[in-house]
Amino acid sequence: MTQLPDWNSKIGAWGTSLLRCLPAELAHDIGMWALKHQVLDYLPQPSSMHGSVNLSTEIGHLGHLPHPFLLAAGFDKHCLAPGAFFKMGFAGVELGTVTPQPQPGNPKPRMFRHEDTRSLINRMGFNSDGHAVVHKRLKNHRDSLPRGSIVGVNLGKNKVTAPELAVNDFLQGLHLFDAVSDYLVINISSPNTPGLRALARPDFITSLAGEARSFVNKTWIKLDPDIERHDFQAIVHAITDQDFAGFILSNTHRVDWPQAGGLSGHPLLSQSNTVLEWAWEVHRGLKPMMASGGVLSGIDAYQKIIRGACAVQLYSALVYRGPGAVLSIHTELQHELKLHGFSTMSEAIGVFYDQGRHT
Ligand SMILES: Cc1cc2nc3c(=O)[nH]c(=O)nc-3n(C[C@H](O)[C@H](O)[C@H](O)COP(=O)(O)O)c2cc1C
Repeated sequence: MTQLPDWNSKIGAWGTSLLRCLPAELAHDIGMWALKHQVLDYLPQPSSMHGSVNLSTEIGHLGHLPHPFLLAAGFDKHCLAPGAFFKMGFAGVELGTVTPQPQPGNPKPRMFRHEDTRSLINRMGFNSDGHAVVHKRLKNHRDSLPRGSIVGVNLGKNKVTAPELAVNDFLQGLHLFDAVSDYLVINISSPNTPGLRALARPDFITSLAGEARSFVNKTWIKLDPDIERHDFQAIVHAITDQDFAGFILSNTHRVDWPQAGGLSGHPLLSQSNTVLEWAWEVHRGLKPMMASGGVLSGIDAYQKIIRGACAVQLYSALVYRGPGAVLSIHTELQHELKLHGFSTMSEAIGVFYDQGRHT
């Protein structure tokens, strides 16, 4: 595997350390500005991501990807620089969450870094440029993205939309973004929009599927990790029965301390691993799962894959490890798989359940 030259990883690491001296959202905005202005073009690019262990993966209707790493929702909410993430080595990018109408989100400060635990707490509240603007940007970017690249669009509801009308917000998004995306996501799991998580119920899933029949096979559902096991599995049943494309597990864990919001990063790892196990108990590998939550290293990614994930999304890893995160985690995952005797990643998917470790 070709590594980034040493000085490149150093520049990435210095840049990331400098940004981490700033408040979290300001650092994010400066980082996005730099990516939008092609800062990565001034650094040598990873020329290939090969290695002795084959990381290629099949992700349901999305087909074959060279490796499992995708950008998680929330990093490029407004489609400002999707191309930059492919230059970092991501195989796919999930844009959004996008709401139908533009909305400002919650007052600042609303994003907090906790370096000691390598975590983040956010209560952004779906700050969004809105469907029309994001759709136009994505249409303009689409042709310049690398061939075979995967773009997902994560959809939310406006804060002012009453929960009983939320289905209309999602339907608008499905119709608008269908032609410009490879997959769509229904986000009923962010903790910062009043009433949103309450939509994670079998009856909502069933009525959404009824209205969105022609989209279900490219629509993934992102769930939160705070649902009680029995209720969680009832929703997984409904999603599987309605033949949605798959699951994204999971969103953030709701916390009240030291800030109110959703917790990401290392402390989310084990809770989000548990919901992968709960989902697998229901669908037994029949539905694809993209993992999200606490992946900061290849060892963390391995834990997701053995629990049945065929793709792994990253957010906090970019904050704590910088733009070289994908390449580093890609290398670490290869080592981890090799250590466990695997020569391909696909052999490892779901082995946690074969080894009798799961009770
Ligand atoms: C600042 C911030 C904003 C986020 N915004 C969204 C969002 O708009 N939609 C969404 O589905 N998830 C959002 N997320 C959650 C991430 O997509 C991801 O599920 C979560 O951070 C766990 O992954 P991680 O531990 O790798 O960070 C956000 C996370 C953070 C830290």
